[in-house]
Amino acid sequence: MCIFAACVFLGVLFAPYQCLECPFGCECLAVTRTLNCVSKDLLIVPQNIPGDTRNVVITGNNIHKIGPDSFTELQNVTNIILSNNRITELASHTFTALTNLRSLDLSGNHLALIHPEALNIPGSPLQELNLSRSLHNFTALKDLVTALRWGRLWGLLHLDLSGNLLALVPPGMFSHVPNLQQLWLRKNSLVAVYAGTFSGMDHLEMLDLTHNAFEAFRADALQELERLGNAQIFLGNNPYICSCESRDFVTWLNKTQARVDVDTVRCASPEELANTRLQGLTVQAISCVIPVLAEVTDLTLQTSYVFLGLVLGLVGMVFLFVLYLNRNGMKKWIIETRDACREVLEGYHYRYEMDSDPRLGHITSQRRHLGRTLSQQLPNDTCIVQGPTETQVKPVATSPAVYS
Ligand SMILES: *[C@@H]1O[C@H](CO)[C@@H](O)[C@H](O)[C@H]1NC(C)=O
Ligand SMILES: *[C@@H]1O[C@H](CO)[C@@H](O)[C@H](O)[C@H]1NC(C)=O
Ligand SMILES: *[C@@H]1O[C@H](CO)[C@@H](O)[C@H](O)[C@H]1NC(C)=O
Ligand SMILES: *[C@@H]1O[C@H](CO)[C@@H](O)[C@H](O)[C@H]1NC(C)=O
Repeated sequence: MCIFAACVFLGVLFAPYQCLECPFGCECLAVTRTLNCVSKDLLIVPQNIPGDTRNVVITGNNIHKIGPDSFTELQNVTNIILSNNRITELASHTFTALTNLRSLDLSGNHLALIHPEALNIPGSPLQELNLSRSLHNFTALKDLVTALRWGRLWGLLHLDLSGNLLALVPPGMFSHVPNLQQLWLRKNSLVAVYAGTFSGMDHLEMLDLTHNAFEAFRADALQELERLGNAQIFLGNNPYICSCESRDFVTWLNKTQARVDVDTVRCASPEELANTRLQGLTVQAISCVIPVLAEVTDLTLQTSYVFLGLVLGLVGMVFLFVLYLNRNGMKKWIIETRDACREVLEGYHYRYEMDSDPRLGHITSQRRHLGRTLSQQLPNDTCIVQGPTETQVKPVATSPAVYS
């Protein structure tokens, strides 16, 4: 009775809007053409939604399954909010009749089963899809990948997948929504980005990876992020470990053209670097082994020099020792050599004397004199080579011809 009175009153206020058509327990706002069914313990989507409704807000109910019967003949609906309804199943073609649906919010549900064609709408009118905190488990994620592929969501611009405990994003998952501009993956459990994670996304303008489980980004992940061009990338509030493994990441943060929230990208560990910005950290600060390695090679170089010295010293000592052992033999050899030289020299003296000729007397005497001075000047064991003496002697032999 009371509700009826209120309806009559509203009907008077908003004349064009048919109050009596408003589903039981719901609110129909004529000005905004909005249906509100908030926390009414509804078990199904109400059937008699006014035909000219633009916004449908059904939240906080107990609706387990939605399907093609849920929304029919609602060509003017542009926004549907179905958050927190404990929805577990999305049947095929659930939204097919909603040819002007731009925004669909399914956040806060427990989707365990998403049929491949659940998101199909002729003409791909959907621009925003909110699946935050709504995927029950990994099976649901795989279902979603299929539904994105079959859904032909070419008009989709915004996709919210935050808060789903996702540990990984299947590579190529977003290649079926090629015009996506904003992607929320915050508050998941992502540990890595792989080559291909964001493949096919050529229009991405914003990527939110905050509040995940990233400890560092490896080279292939950084390449994948770099592929996003000058998109805005949020990477803050992850448990980054500022060790040598973060080196590529720090280098990338130092020089990337992408717009990154560098001020919130901070070390979680080690303790001495906790809450330090990663950008600008030096190789030494993240204790990369490079300087230590240089010291090590220095040390090995020094060690090898010392070793070489020791070996050379040992060889020298052995040589000297052998010489010492052989000292008698050496002495004998030296004496023999000296005697041999002396004999040769004396042999020459003898030849000069035999050659002596009155006409060559002065030369011979000169020579003898020279020989004597030579043998006087040279130490006893110096052996004079024969060559020069012979050439000196030759003119002596031919000289008679010159004088005759
Ligand atoms: C949808 O909106 C248009 C224009 O606003 C209106 O002419 C039409 O009657 C509406 N459709 C329904 C089913 O009310
Ligand atoms: C999606 O829904 C959640 C919870 O209802 C909300 O906090 C979030 O802002 C929504 N996302 C977008 C992109 O609007
Ligand atoms: C996900 O949940 C559904 C329903 O509870 C269950 O049938 C399925 O086995 C679960 N999948 C995984 C991977 O746990
Ligand atoms: C990052 O840049 C800072 C100064 O701009 C530099 O000192 C540091 O060595 C760089 N770090 C790496 C890992 O390249």
